[in-house]
Amino acid sequence: MSFPTHRPRRLRRTEALRGLVRETRLSAAGLINPMFVCPGTNVRKEVSSMPGVYQQSVDKIVEECREVEGLGLPGVILFGLPESKDARGSSSTSALGVVQKAIEAIRKSKLNLLVITDVCLCEYTDHGHCGVIENGDVANDATLPILAAQALSHARAGADIVAPSDMMDGRVAAIREALDEHRFQDIAILAYAAKYCSGFYGPFREAADSAPQFGDRRSYQMDPPNAREALKEVALDIEEGADLVMVKPALPYLDVIRRVREKCDVPVGAYNVSGEYAMVKAAAQKGWLDEKRVALEILTGIQRAGADFILTYHAKDAAKWLKP
Ligand code: PBG
Repeated sequence: MSFPTHRPRRLRRTEALRGLVRETRLSAAGLINPMFVCPGTNVRKEVSSMPGVYQQSVDKIVEECREVEGLGLPGVILFGLPESKDARGSSSTSALGVVQKAIEAIRKSKLNLLVITDVCLCEYTDHGHCGVIENGDVANDATLPILAAQALSHARAGADIVAPSDMMDGRVAAIREALDEHRFQDIAILAYAAKYCSGFYGPFREAADSAPQFGDRRSYQMDPPNAREALKEVALDIEEGADLVMVKPALPYLDVIRRVREKCDVPVGAYNVSGEYAMVKAAAQKGWLDEKRVALEILTGIQRAGADFILTYHAKDAAKWLKP
Protein backbone atom coordinates (compact mmCIF):
# COMPACT_ATOMS: atom_id res chain seq x y z
CA MET A 1 0.00 0.00 0.00
CA SER A 2 1.41 3.30 -1.01
CA PHE A 3 0.17 6.70 -2.11
CA PRO A 4 -2.52 7.95 -1.54
CA THR A 5 -2.74 6.02 1.76
CA HIS A 6 0.78 7.02 2.73
CA ARG A 7 1.58 10.70 2.61
CA PRO A 8 4.85 11.47 4.46
CA ARG A 9 4.04 15.16 4.09
CA ARG A 10 1.37 14.79 6.83
CA LEU A 11 4.10 14.84 9.46
CA ARG A 12 5.82 17.89 7.97
CA ARG A 13 2.78 20.13 8.01
CA THR A 14 3.54 22.27 11.07
CA GLU A 15 6.57 23.00 13.25
CA ALA A 16 4.88 21.16 16.14
CA LEU A 17 4.59 18.02 14.01
CA ARG A 18 8.12 18.33 12.67
CA GLY A 19 9.41 18.86 16.21
CA LEU A 20 7.55 15.81 17.48
CA VAL A 21 9.05 13.42 14.95
CA ARG A 22 12.52 14.95 14.78
CA GLU A 23 15.15 12.19 14.89
CA THR A 24 18.19 14.29 15.80
CA ARG A 25 18.01 16.95 18.47
CA LEU A 26 21.04 19.19 18.50
CA SER A 27 21.74 20.82 21.85
CA ALA A 28 24.44 22.97 23.41
CA ALA A 29 25.07 20.16 25.91
CA GLY A 30 27.00 18.22 23.27
CA LEU A 31 29.21 21.03 21.96
CA ILE A 32 32.77 21.85 23.04
CA ASN A 33 34.37 25.27 22.42
CA PRO A 34 38.03 25.24 21.23
CA MET A 35 40.25 28.08 22.52
CA PHE A 36 43.80 29.30 21.89
CA VAL A 37 45.88 30.47 24.86
CA CYS A 38 48.80 32.85 24.34
CA PRO A 39 51.25 34.60 26.71
CA GLY A 40 50.71 38.06 28.21
CA THR A 41 47.75 39.81 29.75
CA ASN A 42 44.82 41.55 28.15
CA VAL A 43 45.65 39.98 24.76
CA ARG A 44 42.80 39.15 22.43
CA LYS A 45 43.88 38.82 18.81
CA GLU A 46 41.46 37.59 16.19
CA VAL A 47 42.66 34.79 13.89
CA SER A 48 42.30 36.29 10.41
CA SER A 49 41.14 33.07 8.75
CA MET A 50 38.74 32.28 11.60
CA PRO A 51 36.55 35.31 12.34
CA GLY A 52 35.20 35.11 15.89
CA VAL A 53 38.11 32.97 17.11
CA TYR A 54 40.91 34.59 19.12
CA GLN A 55 44.38 33.98 20.48
CA GLN A 56 43.93 35.09 24.08
CA SER A 57 45.93 35.52 27.24
CA VAL A 58 44.85 33.63 30.35
CA ASP A 59 42.78 36.51 31.79
CA LYS A 60 40.79 36.82 28.56
CA ILE A 61 40.41 33.04 28.32
CA VAL A 62 38.73 33.05 31.72
CA GLU A 63 36.39 35.83 30.57
CA GLU A 64 35.35 33.85 27.53
CA CYS A 65 34.96 30.71 29.64
CA ARG A 66 32.45 32.58 31.77
CA GLU A 67 30.49 33.38 28.63
CA VAL A 68 30.81 29.74 27.47
CA GLU A 69 29.40 28.50 30.78
CA GLY A 70 26.56 31.03 30.63
CA LEU A 71 25.56 29.71 27.22
CA GLY A 72 25.07 26.21 28.59
CA LEU A 73 28.06 24.67 26.86
CA PRO A 74 29.65 21.84 28.84
CA GLY A 75 33.31 22.61 28.24
CA VAL A 76 36.28 23.92 26.33
CA ILE A 77 39.38 22.43 24.71
CA LEU A 78 42.59 24.42 25.08
CA PHE A 79 45.48 24.82 22.63
CA GLY A 80 48.67 26.64 23.57
CA LEU A 81 50.89 29.23 21.91
CA PRO A 82 53.98 28.91 24.10
CA GLU A 83 56.57 31.57 24.95
CA SER A 84 59.31 29.45 23.42
CA LYS A 85 59.77 26.51 21.07
CA ASP A 86 62.59 24.00 20.70
CA ALA A 87 63.29 20.75 18.85
CA ARG A 88 61.74 18.60 21.59
CA GLY A 89 58.74 20.75 22.46
CA SER A 90 60.04 21.05 26.02
CA SER A 91 57.83 23.99 26.93
CA SER A 92 54.78 21.75 26.54
CA THR A 93 55.42 19.98 29.85
CA SER A 94 56.12 23.06 32.00
CA ALA A 95 53.90 23.72 34.99
CA LEU A 96 54.29 27.40 34.06
CA GLY A 97 53.22 26.90 30.44
CA VAL A 98 50.33 28.92 29.00
CA VAL A 99 47.91 26.00 28.91
CA GLN A 100 48.78 24.86 32.42
CA LYS A 101 48.27 28.43 33.70
CA ALA A 102 44.97 28.72 31.84
CA ILE A 103 43.70 25.47 33.35
CA GLU A 104 44.58 26.69 36.84
CA ALA A 105 42.89 30.03 36.26
CA ILE A 106 39.72 28.38 34.99
CA ARG A 107 39.72 26.03 37.99
CA LYS A 108 40.22 29.00 40.35
CA SER A 109 37.29 30.81 38.81
CA LYS A 110 35.02 27.93 39.90
CA LEU A 111 33.28 27.74 36.57
CA ASN A 112 31.19 24.68 35.95
CA LEU A 113 33.10 23.69 32.81
CA LEU A 114 34.93 20.63 31.62
CA VAL A 115 38.50 21.52 30.79
CA ILE A 116 39.86 19.39 27.97
CA THR A 117 43.43 19.86 26.74
CA ASP A 118 44.96 19.04 23.40
CA VAL A 119 48.08 16.95 23.95
CA CYS A 120 50.55 17.29 21.09
CA LEU A 121 53.99 18.67 20.33
CA CYS A 122 53.35 20.60 17.10
CA GLU A 123 52.58 23.88 18.84
CA TYR A 124 55.76 23.56 20.92
CA THR A 125 58.40 22.32 18.49
CA ASP A 126 60.42 24.76 16.38
CA HIS A 127 60.04 22.40 13.38
CA GLY A 128 56.25 22.20 13.85
CA HIS A 129 55.96 18.40 13.80
CA CYS A 130 53.87 16.48 16.33
CA GLY A 131 56.85 14.50 17.60
CA VAL A 132 60.61 14.68 17.96
CA ILE A 133 62.78 14.27 14.86
CA GLU A 134 65.32 11.48 14.51
CA ASN A 135 67.13 10.83 11.24
CA GLY A 136 64.87 13.27 9.46
CA ASP A 137 61.71 11.44 10.51
CA VAL A 138 59.16 11.91 13.28
CA ALA A 139 60.22 9.36 15.89
CA ASN A 140 57.31 7.51 17.45
CA ASP A 141 58.67 5.92 20.61
CA ALA A 142 60.93 8.80 21.60
CA THR A 143 57.90 11.11 21.51
CA LEU A 144 55.78 9.08 23.92
CA PRO A 145 57.43 10.12 27.21
CA ILE A 146 57.12 13.81 26.29
CA LEU A 147 53.43 13.39 25.49
CA ALA A 148 52.93 11.54 28.77
CA ALA A 149 54.72 14.31 30.68
CA GLN A 150 52.60 16.94 28.94
CA ALA A 151 49.36 15.12 29.78
CA LEU A 152 50.51 14.73 33.37
CA SER A 153 51.25 18.47 33.65
CA HIS A 154 47.74 19.21 32.39
CA ALA A 155 46.25 16.82 34.93
CA ARG A 156 48.29 18.42 37.71
CA ALA A 157 46.99 21.84 36.68
CA GLY A 158 43.41 20.56 36.92
CA ALA A 159 42.34 19.28 33.50
CA ASP A 160 39.37 16.89 33.40
CA ILE A 161 40.17 15.24 30.09
CA VAL A 162 43.41 15.04 28.10
CA ALA A 163 43.12 14.66 24.35
CA PRO A 164 46.18 13.38 22.47
CA SER A 165 46.11 14.54 18.83
CA ASP A 166 49.62 13.63 17.73
CA MET A 167 48.84 10.22 16.14
CA MET A 168 51.91 8.45 17.56
CA ASP A 169 51.27 4.73 18.09
CA GLY A 170 50.99 3.74 21.73
CA ARG A 171 50.45 7.22 23.12
CA VAL A 172 47.19 6.43 24.85
CA ALA A 173 48.83 3.61 26.82
CA ALA A 174 51.82 5.81 27.67
CA ILE A 175 49.56 8.61 28.89
CA ARG A 176 47.28 6.26 30.85
CA GLU A 177 50.26 4.73 32.58
CA ALA A 178 51.75 8.10 33.53
CA LEU A 179 48.42 9.39 34.84
CA ASP A 180 47.75 6.27 36.88
CA GLU A 181 51.24 6.23 38.31
CA HIS A 182 50.61 9.70 39.72
CA ARG A 183 47.13 8.98 41.03
CA PHE A 184 45.29 10.68 38.22
CA GLN A 185 43.32 7.51 37.55
CA ASP A 186 40.12 9.55 37.26
CA ILE A 187 41.35 11.84 34.49
CA ALA A 188 39.84 10.67 31.21
CA ILE A 189 41.54 10.29 27.85
CA LEU A 190 39.83 11.50 24.70
CA ALA A 191 41.84 10.00 21.84
CA TYR A 192 41.91 11.72 18.49
CA ALA A 193 41.73 8.12 17.31
CA ALA A 194 41.01 8.60 13.63
CA LYS A 195 42.76 11.80 12.72
CA TYR A 196 43.26 12.26 9.01
CA CYS A 197 46.00 14.13 7.20
CA SER A 198 43.70 16.92 6.07
CA GLY A 199 43.85 20.18 4.17
CA PHE A 200 41.05 21.40 6.43
CA TYR A 201 43.52 22.16 9.26
CA GLY A 202 44.89 25.17 7.34
CA PRO A 203 43.37 27.97 9.43
CA PHE A 204 44.20 26.15 12.69
CA ARG A 205 47.87 26.24 11.82
CA GLU A 206 47.62 30.03 11.67
CA ALA A 207 45.67 30.08 14.95
CA ALA A 208 48.08 27.75 16.77
CA ASP A 209 51.21 28.74 14.84
CA SER A 210 51.90 25.05 14.26
CA ALA A 211 52.58 24.58 10.56
CA PRO A 212 55.33 22.00 9.89
CA GLN A 213 58.53 23.76 8.78
CA PHE A 214 59.47 20.90 6.44
CA GLY A 215 57.54 18.03 4.90
CA ASP A 216 54.02 17.19 5.97
CA ARG A 217 52.18 14.94 8.41
CA ARG A 218 51.45 12.06 6.03
CA SER A 219 53.74 9.61 7.83
CA TYR A 220 51.71 9.80 11.04
CA GLN A 221 48.21 11.15 10.34
CA MET A 222 45.79 8.87 8.50
CA ASP A 223 45.45 8.63 4.74
CA PRO A 224 42.07 10.17 3.77
CA PRO A 225 40.87 7.29 1.56
CA ASN A 226 40.99 4.78 4.44
CA ALA A 227 37.99 3.90 6.61
CA ARG A 228 38.69 0.32 7.75
CA GLU A 229 41.96 1.59 9.13
CA ALA A 230 40.03 4.08 11.27
CA LEU A 231 38.25 1.18 12.97
CA LYS A 232 41.62 -0.37 13.71
CA GLU A 233 42.96 2.90 15.17
CA VAL A 234 39.85 3.23 17.33
CA ALA A 235 40.08 -0.37 18.55
CA LEU A 236 43.76 0.06 19.45
CA ASP A 237 43.11 3.29 21.34
CA ILE A 238 40.24 1.74 23.31
CA GLU A 239 42.44 -1.26 24.11
CA GLU A 240 45.11 1.14 25.35
CA GLY A 241 42.62 2.84 27.63
CA ALA A 242 40.89 5.62 25.72
CA ASP A 243 37.62 6.60 27.45
CA LEU A 244 36.32 8.54 24.48
CA VAL A 245 37.36 8.54 20.84
CA MET A 246 37.18 11.12 18.11
CA VAL A 247 37.07 11.35 14.34
CA LYS A 248 38.63 14.39 12.72
CA PRO A 249 37.82 16.27 10.51
CA ALA A 250 34.06 15.75 10.51
CA LEU A 251 32.41 16.68 7.21
CA PRO A 252 34.48 14.67 4.72
CA TYR A 253 34.45 11.71 7.16
CA LEU A 254 30.77 11.31 8.11
CA ASP A 255 30.92 7.69 6.94
CA VAL A 256 33.81 7.09 9.31
CA ILE A 257 31.88 8.63 12.22
CA ARG A 258 28.97 6.31 11.42
CA ARG A 259 31.16 3.22 11.22
CA VAL A 260 33.02 4.02 14.41
CA ARG A 261 29.71 4.65 16.20
CA GLU A 262 28.40 1.27 15.09
CA LYS A 263 31.58 -0.62 15.88
CA CYS A 264 32.44 0.58 19.39
CA ASP A 265 30.63 1.36 22.62
CA VAL A 266 32.58 4.32 24.02
CA PRO A 267 31.39 7.89 23.41
CA VAL A 268 32.34 9.10 19.93
CA GLY A 269 33.23 12.70 19.24
CA ALA A 270 33.82 14.55 16.00
CA TYR A 271 35.98 17.60 15.40
CA ASN A 272 34.33 20.09 13.07
CA VAL A 273 37.72 21.61 12.23
CA SER A 274 39.03 25.06 11.40
CA GLY A 275 38.75 24.76 7.63
CA GLU A 276 35.15 23.61 7.88
CA TYR A 277 34.40 26.66 10.00
CA ALA A 278 36.36 29.04 7.75
CA MET A 279 34.46 27.90 4.64
CA VAL A 280 31.12 28.71 6.22
CA LYS A 281 32.36 32.05 7.56
CA ALA A 282 33.84 33.12 4.23
CA ALA A 283 30.76 32.19 2.23
CA ALA A 284 28.51 33.87 4.79
CA GLN A 285 30.59 37.06 4.68
CA LYS A 286 30.12 37.15 0.95
CA GLY A 287 26.40 36.70 1.39
CA TRP A 288 26.49 33.36 -0.40
CA LEU A 289 25.22 31.25 2.50
CA ASP A 290 23.01 31.82 5.53
CA GLU A 291 25.52 31.12 8.32
CA LYS A 292 23.05 30.13 11.02
CA ARG A 293 21.18 27.80 8.75
CA VAL A 294 24.18 26.00 7.30
CA ALA A 295 26.13 25.82 10.56
CA LEU A 296 23.20 24.17 12.34
CA GLU A 297 22.64 21.89 9.36
CA ILE A 298 26.30 20.84 9.43
CA LEU A 299 26.27 20.17 13.19
CA THR A 300 23.01 18.25 12.88
CA GLY A 301 24.51 16.17 10.07
CA ILE A 302 27.57 15.34 12.16
CA GLN A 303 25.34 14.28 15.05
CA ARG A 304 23.04 12.31 12.75
CA ALA A 305 26.09 10.47 11.40
CA GLY A 306 26.71 9.24 14.94
CA ALA A 307 28.72 11.79 16.91
CA ASP A 308 27.77 11.98 20.60
CA PHE A 309 29.59 15.28 20.99
CA ILE A 310 31.18 17.80 18.65
CA LEU A 311 34.18 20.10 18.99
CA THR A 312 33.30 23.16 16.95
CA TYR A 313 34.25 26.81 16.54
CA HIS A 314 30.53 27.43 16.05
CA ALA A 315 29.78 26.22 19.61
CA LYS A 316 28.95 29.63 21.09
CA ASP A 317 26.93 30.73 18.06
CA ALA A 318 25.07 27.43 18.00
CA ALA A 319 24.28 27.68 21.71
CA LYS A 320 22.78 31.13 21.08
CA TRP A 321 20.84 29.98 18.04
CA LEU A 322 19.49 26.91 19.84
CA LYS A 323 18.14 28.90 22.80
CA PRO A 324 14.38 28.36 22.90
C1 PBG B 1 47.50 19.11 16.45
C2 PBG B 1 46.13 19.53 16.12
C3 PBG B 1 45.68 20.05 14.92
C4 PBG B 1 44.32 20.31 15.07
C5 PBG B 1 43.98 19.95 16.37
N1 PBG B 1 45.11 19.45 16.99
C6 PBG B 1 46.40 20.43 13.68
C7 PBG B 1 47.17 19.47 12.90
O1 PBG B 1 47.15 18.26 13.12
O2 PBG B 1 47.83 19.95 11.99
C8 PBG B 1 43.42 20.87 14.02
C9 PBG B 1 42.18 21.49 14.49
C10 PBG B 1 41.50 22.35 13.48
O3 PBG B 1 41.88 22.41 12.29
O4 PBG B 1 40.54 23.00 13.87
N2 PBG B 1 47.89 19.52 17.70
